[in-house]
Amino acid sequence: MLKAGIDIGFGDVKAVFSDNRKIKFPTAIVRDPGGAFNVSTGKEEGFHNYNGSNYYVGKTALHMGQTYSTRSMEFMENFTPLLVHVALEKAGFINSEVKHLSIGLQLGKSNAVGKAFLLKKIEEGVVDGKKLGFEHVEVIPQGVGILLDSRFNWQGQELVGAGINTLVVDIGFNTVDVLVAIDGQPKKGRSEMLERSGISWICERLIARVKERTGSGLTEQQAKNALLNGYVEMYGKKIDLGLDIKEISNGYAEWLHSELRSRWEEQMAQFPRIILAGGGAHIVKPYMPHYMQNIITPAEPEFANARGFFKWLQVQKKAA
Ligand SMILES: Nc1ncnc2c1ncn2[C@@H]1O[C@H](COP(=O)(O)OP(=O)(O)OP(=O)(O)O)[C@@H](O)[C@H]1O
Ligand SMILES: [Mg+2]
Repeated sequence: MLKAGIDIGFGDVKAVFSDNRKIKFPTAIVRDPGGAFNVSTGKEEGFHNYNGSNYYVGKTALHMGQTYSTRSMEFMENFTPLLVHVALEKAGFINSEVKHLSIGLQLGKSNAVGKAFLLKKIEEGVVDGKKLGFEHVEVIPQGVGILLDSRFNWQGQELVGAGINTLVVDIGFNTVDVLVAIDGQPKKGRSEMLERSGISWICERLIARVKERTGSGLTEQQAKNALLNGYVEMYGKKIDLGLDIKEISNGYAEWLHSELRSRWEEQMAQFPRIILAGGGAHIVKPYMPHYMQNIITPAEPEFANARGFFKWLQVQKKAA
């Protein structure tokens, strides 16, 4: 039985599958301009019909001008079936092969209404003339995926000693989600989503630096790539941004640490485990204070939510 755990972030879609396949692509969608500009054969990479309209999805969409604002939660919900379809396709599956799906929901929308809305979207969405056709769909709050990832192995067995007090910090592109778990159980009332506090904080400042130095602007997407590569190319010349990135990342880590301390000081000091995950963990971890020996970062932290969603399907299989 093939299963999928999919985490749709503001920056990237991350997906893991039961046969150990995993994929990641940018959360970018652009509507096909159509009309006189329509030279599409309908067979281009990333081209899909979704609920009656044509779109480009993923990397192809990034180079096509105005993408939809991926900052809005409505965007994410409305296009979830399309992004799920593309994730399966990119991993080489056809829809009907993967029967069980486990997918994330924004912390801020994690209530019965938000869950029912997303389930309905997934059930009704039509991509390239077909419904997705899952037999079973689980909806799990983002951040809880990271907690589940830390509690269970790939087969869904509980790890010894993992049900402890834990603070989960999911550092994404747009948001930082903070989740408090007592004895391994998530506590909703004490969890929070910090908007515009993710890696976009660094990108904004990097864009300003590049503007100062070169007079040219960068898009957010270009800044995201510059952060990853350590340089930008302008007029055919590489401009090294290593020192700027280091300084801004250090400033971000200090800012985030003080934000977290002002709200979760007790947990940060007294909990035996703080899990830093989300792709931002790669960037922030080196700058966290050395005395905080309770901080851990899982391997490939950007996939931690998706892995946890998947593992939850495995746990349920065991319970059945
Ligand atoms: N392997 C990596 N190495 C270095 N940096 C990375 C890596 N993966 C991700 N990042 C950085 O971490 C950022 C956040 O990644 P992540 O996939 O967690 O964001 P997201 O889930 O799309 O966003 P959000 O959680 O806000 O919806 C990326 O935009 C990128 O800058
Ligand atoms: Mg995320």
